[in-house]
Amino acid sequence: MRRKLVVGNWKMHGSIAANRTLLEKVVAGVYTCYHADFAVCVPYPYIAQTQILLTGSNVCWGAQNLCSTRDGASTGAVSPAMLTDFGCTHAIIGHSERRNLFHETDDTAAARFNAAREAGLVPIFCMGESAEERESDWTEYIVGRQLDSILRRFGPQALSNAVLAYEPLWAIGSDKAATPEQAQEVHAFIRNRIARCDAKIAQEVRILYGGSVTPANAAQLFAMPDIDGGLIGRASLSAEEFVPICLAANDRCVRSNIHRFEGHDAPIAASA
Ligand code: PGA
Repeated sequence: MRRKLVVGNWKMHGSIAANRTLLEKVVAGVYTCYHADFAVCVPYPYIAQTQILLTGSNVCWGAQNLCSTRDGASTGAVSPAMLTDFGCTHAIIGHSERRNLFHETDDTAAARFNAAREAGLVPIFCMGESAEERESDWTEYIVGRQLDSILRRFGPQALSNAVLAYEPLWAIGSDKAATPEQAQEVHAFIRNRIARCDAKIAQEVRILYGGSVTPANAAQLFAMPDIDGGLIGRASLSAEEFVPICLAANDRCVRSNIHRFEGHDAPIAASA
């Protein structure tokens, strides 16, 4: 069985004071939850602060992007090795905001995905369709194309220490989450497409759902057979919302009898 994973995506939010309060509450809220895995992906400048506050806790941390090259003349870019220097374990790759606001393509997202893996980071690779694409019945075409950008270039083995996230654009920041059934349908599609290449990896890879997850809908989403946790935007900015979502994931693992040591990630965040 796959352990649930809940990842906070802070996007471009935070301040030194607010982060401290939030992270202290999150650590206190989830420290007895050993059945699921948790992480927060924070803006680059706050990674060092996050490392200090989360070291020794059961919450990992990571970034929201990275550069696909190792080092060199890339003004403004941050390399995978710089992230691991600060204890990062995860990196969000190909979020729709990166694709749309910063013109990231399937190709550049795939290159970042691979660079993250090569550096020992767990990439959280995002896929999803727009409202218009869903209305035109293109969901499987779009999500399939995004998934294939990884499968074709790097093979199914590249997913063995990666996480996928289905994030329909119409659900992000919209208060209109996909229903558990809608999300499950796409998650099953993703898993089946991977299974055509490698059945074992398809069974093992965790597929998160993202898009307006809240404490009110988390338990129902996490109860679906192919939804292995959530990528949480707005609700990750408040411990009062993020912690109950983490508890819902942990609770689902307890009910499904997922053993605490069956994880893909080390449950205790390592020091640098
Ligand atoms: P949201 O964002 O939870 O605020 O909808 C999710 C995301 O973009 O990852």
